[in-house]
Amino acid sequence: MTQHDQTDLIATWLKDAYAMETTIIEVLEKQIAMTADLPGIQAGIQTHLEDTRIHAESVQRCLEALGQDPSAIKAGMAKLGGKVQGLMMAIPEDSLIKNALHDYATEHMEIASYKALIIAAQEANLPDIADACQIILRDEEAMAVWLDQQLPTLVRLSLSKAS
Ligand SMILES: [Fe+2]
Ligand SMILES: [Fe+2]
Repeated sequence: MTQHDQTDLIATWLKDAYAMETTIIEVLEKQIAMTADLPGIQAGIQTHLEDTRIHAESVQRCLEALGQDPSAIKAGMAKLGGKVQGLMMAIPEDSLIKNALHDYATEHMEIASYKALIIAAQEANLPDIADACQIILRDEEAMAVWLDQQLPTLVRLSLSKAS
């Protein structure tokens, strides 16, 4: 594969990451509205929503650095967003635990995506893109740890509501 082909492939993966981030923004906004009675959880989601907006902007800058037209990136989102959404970003369920499991899986999907992008960018000698993805990866890993810590509370809360 030529350097040009590698760069094209990395741009495709970055577009998927951009679609993923923009979809997650919508999901987190809905979850914030749904967690008004759980201020600790709501605050954690709010913080990650702000991180996620920065992730989308950072990925967009990576795409622009690869010569992708910003308007074309946005225009392709409806299609890509739908694809990613269908795959793993379904609209939030109304149950607390289903949302928690969904978020847990989502963060790990993000972790895997950025790990793959970091390796690809390093292989293709695109260090700025590798660095940008590394910064995002740290936020995703921190969110995954936080979600893991919330899981026992959310399970117990769900059980107590059922009893
Ligand atoms: Fe993210
Ligand atoms: Fe995330």
